[in-house]
Amino acid sequence: MKVLSVVGARPQFIKAVVVSKKLRQKGINEILVHTGQHYDFNVSDVFFKELNLPKPNYYLGVGSGLHGEQTGKMLIEIEKVILKEKADLVIVYGDTNSTLAGALAVSKLRIPVAHVEAGLRSYNKNMPEEINRVLTDHISDILFCSSKVAVENLKKEGITKNVYLVGYVMLDIALVDINEVLKKYNLEYKNFILVTIHRAENTDNLENLKNIWEALVEIAQNNIKIFFPIHPRTKKALKENKLLGNNIPNNLILSEPISYKEMVALEQSAKLIITDSGGVQKEGPFFGTPCIILRNETEWTEIIDIGFNKLVGTKKENIVKTSLKIFNEEKIYAPVREFYGDGRAGEKNSKGYCFKL
Ligand code: UD1
Ligand code: UDP
Repeated sequence: MKVLSVVGARPQFIKAVVVSKKLRQKGINEILVHTGQHYDFNVSDVFFKELNLPKPNYYLGVGSGLHGEQTGKMLIEIEKVILKEKADLVIVYGDTNSTLAGALAVSKLRIPVAHVEAGLRSYNKNMPEEINRVLTDHISDILFCSSKVAVENLKKEGITKNVYLVGYVMLDIALVDINEVLKKYNLEYKNFILVTIHRAENTDNLENLKNIWEALVEIAQNNIKIFFPIHPRTKKALKENKLLGNNIPNNLILSEPISYKEMVALEQSAKLIITDSGGVQKEGPFFGTPCIILRNETEWTEIIDIGFNKLVGTKKENIVKTSLKIFNEEKIYAPVREFYGDGRAGEKNSKGYCFKL
């Protein structure tokens, strides 16, 4: 059996590690296609190296661009690979332009498509990811869901066939020793805030970007250490809008994006995470670290409903107030893991393929 996996952006490399390992263990021939949506070392190669993800069989080198341009280039190149490789199944992950391009290219060739992380909805069509999710789900043949809510969302849209509740693949990756990482970045256990920002609605909207940046500066001025590995998109936006001036407080530490193992170590040891990332808002709770989410809605509603993560939007006062409150609490939180399976999603995904084909 031959499976073709399409990846292209940071979270997809991490998700593919888990599934890819299981597929290969089962003797399935996996052809890995990297669209090139992410290309800088610290948002792409670092994950292949650190997590031993096999070198892609095809690197399409699509790069950055407008949505239509980027997705269109991917479609053209993915179609060529699929026609050449004649795979039995194509796997796509998450909700990026690489996900949609992979699913769309394959669906008209009538090769089955499996979508890992199906059924998530923010119900906000201003997010490019929401368009990618909905379209991908509707043209996929096998839908692997991370949560019950995702299964229900699909049901509301009439999708009930070949839907599998398998859990969240990223829970499967082994934990790491944190002390070395804390030392490297000069951080103390449960005495700093970890920040990641990259959503278009925050980087490309100056009001939101300014609010977020000013909130971080104000929190740091309250004698709180902040560690902020900056996504390339966010770095570009902060620079273009001249927000990265000389007046950055010493304890607001800016870094290039970090590797996955380092990220997981910091997610465990931060007191609080401020983020707009889909992945990070679940990883924090896995380790008992609450997240403040700088968005107005989220696809991962379960952790909000129990009050562990907080949706605060992008108003400066709200970000500062909620951050200081949580940072100064004595409370120690228990890990939240009950919503997204048992850490064996990769295995279940790969079994799914075997059973159905
Ligand atoms: C993409 C996904 C988003 C996902 C995120 C993960 C889409 C529409 N968005 O967002 O869902 O959460 O990846 O990180 O698919 N850039 C670089 N170097 C790189 C890659 C990008 O400098 O290696 C810069 C470029 O200026 C580029 C910008 O970042 O234009 C945005 O990159 P893009 O891949 O279009 O979207 P992301 O914001 O990374
Ligand atoms: N991540 C990482 N290094 C960083 C920031 C994030 O390894 O500097 C990891 C993070 O742990 C998570 C994934 O990247 O597993 C999330 O990716 P991102 O936030 O870019 O995308 P999203 O999940 O929002 O689609």
